Amino acid sequence: MAEHILVAVAWPYANGSLHLGHLAGCYLPADIFARYHRAKGDHVLMVSGSDQHGTPVTIRAEQEGLTPGQVVDKYHQDFLDSWQRMGISFDLFTSTGTDNHREVSQDFFRKLLEKDFIYKDTMLLPFCADCRRFLPDRYVEGACPHCENTRARGDQCDNCGRTLDPQDLIDPRCSLSGTTPSFENSDHFFLRLSAFRERLLDWVQDKNYWRPNVLNFTKRYLEEALLDRAITRDITWGVPVPLDGYDDKRIYVWFEAVIGYLSASVQWASDRGDPDAWKEWWHNPEAKPYYFIGKDNIPFHTMIWPAMLMGYEGFNLPHDVPANEFLSLEGRQFSTSQRWALWLPDYLERYDPDPLRFYLTMSMPETGDTDFSWGEFVRRNNSELVGTFGNLVQRVLTITYRNFDGKVPTPGELDEEASALLQKCASAVDDVGTSLATCRFRLGLTQCMALAQEANRYLDAKAPWATIKTDRDTTATTLWVALATIDCLKVLMSPFIPFSAQRLHNMLGYEGDVGECGWSWQGTTEHLTPGQALERPQPLFIKLDDGVAEEETSRLVSARG
Ligand code: MF3
Ligand code: ZN
Repeated sequence: MAEHILVAVAWPYANGSLHLGHLAGCYLPADIFARYHRAKGDHVLMVSGSDQHGTPVTIRAEQEGLTPGQVVDKYHQDFLDSWQRMGISFDLFTSTGTDNHREVSQDFFRKLLEKDFIYKDTMLLPFCADCRRFLPDRYVEGACPHCENTRARGDQCDNCGRTLDPQDLIDPRCSLSGTTPSFENSDHFFLRLSAFRERLLDWVQDKNYWRPNVLNFTKRYLEEALLDRAITRDITWGVPVPLDGYDDKRIYVWFEAVIGYLSASVQWASDRGDPDAWKEWWHNPEAKPYYFIGKDNIPFHTMIWPAMLMGYEGFNLPHDVPANEFLSLEGRQFSTSQRWALWLPDYLERYDPDPLRFYLTMSMPETGDTDFSWGEFVRRNNSELVGTFGNLVQRVLTITYRNFDGKVPTPGELDEEASALLQKCASAVDDVGTSLATCRFRLGLTQCMALAQEANRYLDAKAPWATIKTDRDTTATTLWVALATIDCLKVLMSPFIPFSAQRLHNMLGYEGDVGECGWSWQGTTEHLTPGQALERPQPLFIKLDDGVAEEETSRLVSARG
């Protein structure tokens, strides 16, 4: 039965271009997952948007001498362009700057306030005498009270992952002036997270299918404590507090950004003229919401957002939060400030999307940190994508095209090897499907490549390029079986490398969208019909020169200056 699958993807701060770390962290896995479920016939809603608020954006604006609004407009366009060119297939990629998002966020705020899950209190906030203002969380640095990190920020410790308030920091200092801030009282609203600790603990009890890092992190956190958190700030860039007398305060970015998943779904429904359509993913208890995020966002998605949803009542809680670990670049952490990054717009100027999607899936940081290197990129492209898969397609299509009048040949009776290969195709449909459904993307692609290897072995054993001279009928059977296997690989690879799968679909003589094949394959002559006209074969992938690795690595280093 078709399921409702919500694919909720982390909202990137609109303060700079996207890099490979973002792609590998959440956008690529989310897209593969969404494409798989769409092929399967499920009802997929995949949403996200630009996170326009928060200090990452205001800091950038200050640095560039722009208004936050100008920064945000520039990068939002940049994001849309990257999604389109990388094939990240959002149903809606909106932003937290819309009227709709403000209304949905304020409604959430009011509702939780009415139910006493939000309360007013005063809090001590860091005030910098040199800068003459209250310091936003990210402007305060100091030692983490939980671990040995001496450079934790006022919102979070990047070392142990815990969320923090500025006053938790030991030896706090202003990151702009270096001055030790004083702590002054200010009126704020607080989210009563402590009221949800028990319920959250209960809720995660049966989440054994979550990734171990996500589950363990969450349980450890909940077993320690879950403290109430301030959800307003003394700033003017953000969603206004929906009450009189708070004009110089805004709702904290994290409180409203997570509401974006809901507001974007509402927006999507109203844009398509069916204003209630979003409810199928949010109220229908059979629907499954998946949240694709990087590991630094775990507490917000496994505790804070679920607590907010529990407090509001009636909405589905996350079904799974398949957070990825981090990708590094040539052995070092991505860093915007140290200009150590590979930006998507930059990559896309010189290369195709699919080789990157392939590489990043093969080394996706699903269970531990992984690294991107240009040397590996070139090697994987040449040996696996071109060598194993591209070569298979090229060999089969070219021999068939040349010797069988550009048409699918008519097979004779299948021998044992042929039947065995087709049997492997049939099991691969199930196996890859299971891997994708359980968010094991590396495994899924590895299983596809194993099938491609099998097909290469079959071809080598049958040597159609030799038999064509003596035995046309046997050769026709060999090639039909190989074409059927390629046809299967086309379906299985389509979530990973959608552009190439589409081209292959057309080269095999089919029309329409490869996604419409469904997550299914028939190794029969009714499906792959003898006489079907093939397109003139063209290489699916381009072999990269060995010099590419060196050239690109030195480009990275020189960008650093
Ligand atoms: N903008 C945040 C980040 O890049 C992620 C926000 S995810 C959301 O770390 F759900 F809160 F939107
Ligand atoms: Zn820490």
